[in-house]
Amino acid sequence: MNKPRNIVVLTGAGVSAESGLPTFRSKSGVTYWDVIEDYLGPKSYRVEDVCTPEALAGDPVLVHRFYDARRAALAGVAPNAAHIALARLDAAWPGELLIVTQNVDDLHERAGATRLVHMHGELRSALCAACGARRPHAGDLPPGSVCPACGAPALRPDIVFFGEMPYQMARIEAAVADADLFVSIGTSGAVYPAAGFVQMAAHYGAATLELNLERSAGSSSFDETRLGLAGVLVPAWVEEVLATG
Ligand code: OAD
Repeated sequence: MNKPRNIVVLTGAGVSAESGLPTFRSKSGVTYWDVIEDYLGPKSYRVEDVCTPEALAGDPVLVHRFYDARRAALAGVAPNAAHIALARLDAAWPGELLIVTQNVDDLHERAGATRLVHMHGELRSALCAACGARRPHAGDLPPGSVCPACGAPALRPDIVFFGEMPYQMARIEAAVADADLFVSIGTSGAVYPAAGFVQMAAHYGAATLELNLERSAGSSSFDETRLGLAGVLVPAWVEEVLATG
């Protein structure tokens, strides 16, 4: 590996799979509609049915309960070796580093990562649909919960739904443009704009590496793809990159 200075790491649901959180689109493993059945009875839902502004407007109880269930599930999981290795990289890397996660769980920060952006929002946060305030939130969040900032009964899960703009895109795009190395971990490359970061990074001259359980929709865009469990591949890669520093 050439000696990089500026690194951007993109993570997806696969980085949390070994902690016991289900992915969205893996060929194997639990899918979201299984999780919904557990919590909401014997009906199946597609993720698109609970992750759009239209779903929130049409059935707020369903959407809020879906995210209540996922928020509650965080109490039973812990960071795995991949989160821990990335936190070690964050602490030790002397150059620029940005971990961009599509995940709404809090396992990167619980492992100790600080140079971190949650581009798709956070389960343990509430967003006011009236004033835009975001604040930490624990426990259930029923529809109609009152915003402490503006008083409107408009708190919703702080999740970026399909069709909404991800958070901190300017910061992310600047980091990708400055990166010498772009590493994608455990994401299927199915959801934009995150799926396009590899092309942007390559356009600006970064080396690109994918760590994933199986080849993804974006694999052909990477200089190198390593297949395996994130809990094995990520610690090995972190040691490798720290050895270049
Ligand atoms: P996906 O479920 O689409 O993809 C997960 C990827 O992780 C797949 O390519 C798996 O092969 C891989 N994978 C599974 N287990 C793994 C393991 N142990 N080690 C390494 N890789 C593993 O999840 P995302 O790409 O994150 O959006 O999905 C992107 C977005 O789609 C999510 O952020 C979510 C969803 O709609 C929002 O919540 C807004």
